[in-house]
Amino acid sequence: MKNIILIGFMGSGKTSAAIRLSYRLRRTMVDTDKEIERLHHMEVAEIFERLGEEEFRDMETRCLERLAKRSGGEIISTGGGLPMREENRGLLKNLGTVIYLRVRPETVCSRLDGDASRPLLQGKDKEEKVKRLLEMRAPVYESAADFVIDTDEKVTDEIVDEILERTEGWR
Ligand code: S3P
Repeated sequence: MKNIILIGFMGSGKTSAAIRLSYRLRRTMVDTDKEIERLHHMEVAEIFERLGEEEFRDMETRCLERLAKRSGGEIISTGGGLPMREENRGLLKNLGTVIYLRVRPETVCSRLDGDASRPLLQGKDKEEKVKRLLEMRAPVYESAADFVIDTDEKVTDEIVDEILERTEGWR
């Protein structure tokens, strides 16, 4: 069985959709951030602070390599920056069906208002940061995905219904 992998920006709803999808398909769910935190006994923000972003990106690559060795059929939610490495895009492609959950910058800002867990969005001018990063990343997400689903103004179950519809025959 193929894996279903969700990619997209912070706040696009990947984790919530993956949890719901795993429930509806009765498949196990993996979140790459959570896997990394579990393995290294540190939260993502702490990894960024103590070891730096590059080290975290290496951990993401190694996480994908480990997932590739498993038997498949899982729902995989990924960190927002994971598809930015070309190597990771190759790994994602071999891992299964990749779905990009697209979101507008305004939605990200309202969903992540007051969030302190995303190191890349801390400090001043959060809206500007989100806009800039999203603009840069959007074409990369698109190129890495088999399907794109818009998530603004949708509740998790609507997103999951769409994923199930679109992946019929791909699973
Ligand atoms: C990041 C997204 C985060 C986490 C880390 C870096 C990014 O995951 O991996 O803070 O570069 O976009 P979520 O997309 O689950 O928030």
